Amino acid sequence: MRKGGQILTDTLKALLKEVEAEVSLLELDKKAYNLIVKAGASPSFLGYRGYPASLCISVNEGVVHGIPNAYRLCQGDIVSLDAGVCYQGFHTDASTTVIVGQPPLGADFKEKDQFLEVGKEALARGIENARQGLRVGDISAAIEKVITAEGYAIIKELTGHGVGRALHEDPYIPGFGRPGTGEVLQAGMTLAVEVIYAKNRPQIKTLSDGWTIVTRDKSWGGLFEKTILVTRNTAEVLTLL
Ligand code: MF3
Ligand code: CO
Repeated sequence: MRKGGQILTDTLKALLKEVEAEVSLLELDKKAYNLIVKAGASPSFLGYRGYPASLCISVNEGVVHGIPNAYRLCQGDIVSLDAGVCYQGFHTDASTTVIVGQPPLGADFKEKDQFLEVGKEALARGIENARQGLRVGDISAAIEKVITAEGYAIIKELTGHGVGRALHEDPYIPGFGRPGTGEVLQAGMTLAVEVIYAKNRPQIKTLSDGWTIVTRDKSWGGLFEKTILVTRNTAEVLTLL
């Protein structure tokens, strides 16, 4: 999973360099496929329950599971790239969200930037609470606290998860909860910790493609995810971006 995580990280880094106005989501997906396969791994999402692509790309009101299409990115779009890699039978899963283009990007750039910084911070605080002897609820509560303190909303239907031989394993890791509750974390567990949140209201809907999940109120969605290894001390991040 260390090696797979490295392949995944290298892939996301290469993709982030390509994120700019006029690039299409299909181009990014193709690039992801090629990079993952060239590295001797396979894209975890492709074919997963019939999912048709290597990446999930969610733009603006997109929250998760956006199927890459012919849409071309625009300056100022908020775009999340989510990828999974399977290497020698083990999966890793990671995502990040960025703003397309360079500042200055208009009046709402600061607001967008702050929205994303808070998501990153929430993921860091969540991961700090992932260590042997703490519980799933400690991770969840740490994430919730950072997101709600800024007036943003955790999307409750979507969660982090265990990851390993399968892309999604127990335990499920919500972005909200109470400290000291839930499954006890053990050294050696591998987890995909996810922060999935919206700028305004947390209600979501799935589009007619059966996958793409967006906010109902069309406010921005944000997504940050890392695969980690739980230890007796600070967790080891296997997808260090
Ligand atoms: N990181 C996303 C998740 O954990 C990946 C979705 S996989 C897909 O749910 F194949 F369903 F797209
Ligand atoms: Co995931």
